Amino acid sequence: MDFEQFRLRTFVDRLIDLGEVEVHHEPVRLIDLSRIIEGTPKATLFKDAGPQHYELVAAVSGSRTRVAAAFGVPPNEASREYLRRMEAPQPITEVPSREAPVHQMVITDNDVDLTQLPFFLQHELDGGTYISSAIDFAVDPRSGKRNVGCRRLMLRDERTLTSNLTQPSDLREIYRGCVEDHRPLPISFVVGSHPLDFLAATLRVPLEDELGLIARLRGAPLPVVKSLTNDLLVPADAELVIEGYFDEQGWRVLDGPYGEWWGFYGPTHPDPLFHVTAITHRRDVLFQSVLHGTRHLENCDAAGVANVSVEASVWRALRDGGIHASAVYHVASSPTGSQLRIALPPEQRSKARDAIQALFAIPIVKHVTVVDDDLDIASDAEVAWAQTTRLRPDRDVIIESGFRGRPGLDHTIDEAGTISKIGFDATIPIGAPEDIDHWRPQPPIVERHAPHYASVRDALEAGPKYFVQLVDGLASGDGREIALQLERLRSSGTVDRLPNGEWHLTGD
Ligand SMILES: Cc1cc2nc3c(=O)[nH]c(=O)nc-3n(C[C@H](O)[C@H](O)[C@H](O)COP(=O)(O)O)c2cc1C
Repeated sequence: MDFEQFRLRTFVDRLIDLGEVEVHHEPVRLIDLSRIIEGTPKATLFKDAGPQHYELVAAVSGSRTRVAAAFGVPPNEASREYLRRMEAPQPITEVPSREAPVHQMVITDNDVDLTQLPFFLQHELDGGTYISSAIDFAVDPRSGKRNVGCRRLMLRDERTLTSNLTQPSDLREIYRGCVEDHRPLPISFVVGSHPLDFLAATLRVPLEDELGLIARLRGAPLPVVKSLTNDLLVPADAELVIEGYFDEQGWRVLDGPYGEWWGFYGPTHPDPLFHVTAITHRRDVLFQSVLHGTRHLENCDAAGVANVSVEASVWRALRDGGIHASAVYHVASSPTGSQLRIALPPEQRSKARDAIQALFAIPIVKHVTVVDDDLDIASDAEVAWAQTTRLRPDRDVIIESGFRGRPGLDHTIDEAGTISKIGFDATIPIGAPEDIDHWRPQPPIVERHAPHYASVRDALEAGPKYFVQLVDGLASGDGREIALQLERLRSSGTVDRLPNGEWHLTGD
């Protein structure tokens, strides 16, 4: 098996070649990591972090370019590639412990000391130090279903930590069952993963074997190894694993506050206690941190992977609604999945409102803008232009209320627990004239070639022409001498202008 292809370190090397990584060779204190990570839109690689001289990489998934590189496709093809891979199951192959790189170093029993791992303060007012990049592997003891998620870890002491099991998730429900049945829930947390594994972990697919999601997204067989102190399978090519269990005593120790994905602090809440039974890692382990809860949500790992998964869900929702969009775009500077843009081709323009309604039906979506496909929907400037020139607020804005909001997360929620949503139809109004007044200026593009006509008169005898067509037809490459010729012909009454600005022979 190839244990290097989907190794985090291999991917980081690739990103360095692409110029996507800011590398820090100098010693950096753990307390300074977040400030440096937040200070750049690039991924950050620390070669000498903290007193243990960790190698640590942050924000590997924090951009479209980097997540597309993980798929090995250009950025605008990532969501289509994602959909393609999701259709194709891949095998999961168990390898013996002695072959698994993540078992090269094993720490058990009293040697376990979480304070030797790079937990650090990620936001000014967080309740403690965190590792933010953990992917959890579990099996629901009631159903036998394998679950994979992505969760932060808060350091408590040498052998215990907490995680946030308060947000709605499959793992929260699995753990609730364990508490009811008075049994602990074994988990193996992986730290240091390829972005495709991370993307798979953020998905919530209730009926799916979620280990299989990682294999699908990799588009390759997934090598797994059984954890040493529980039966859970984890990627054998990961960087580090923290094995252990949530005890059966339920939600009782405070997690948080923590800077959250919607751009505010999430409050404290009681969470279960996790007891560590072993730590295994590669000999040259590369630690990982994600960027989360900053003022630049667009640079967060959650946004980078959501660009792909959210846009894929939007393609699906539009297709199911019979709407054929030219492009969809997740606005990553807003909380994950809440703001979207769609570009429609002219023949689909009449479906702009249907498109808005189709996306309102996705719970997380709050804000939809529909534009024509003559615009680059990734451009804030172009979309702002369309919103002011093609959209009439009292006709083209849809506001609807009564949607279920997320308490404790969405500050716009009302007492009834609802939010409202807004849609902007910034497409060209149906029936708008298609004349030069409605065309967008662009620079002339005139190729070098031999003249098609001998003179201006000759060119106009073939039919009315815009000035640029005369420049092109006469291979002028300049245009000033054509202006002079046209003026002479106009003075003698030979040529004139049509209302759209084209030149024509007066006899036409
Ligand atoms: C960086 C990051 C950190 C996250 N941390 C948590 C967390 O601590 N707790 C949680 O419930 N969800 C967290 N999530 C969201 C879950 O990973 C996501 O809802 C996932 O689908 C849950 O998996 P599950 O429903 O299969 O258990 C996080 C997501 C990201 C991208």
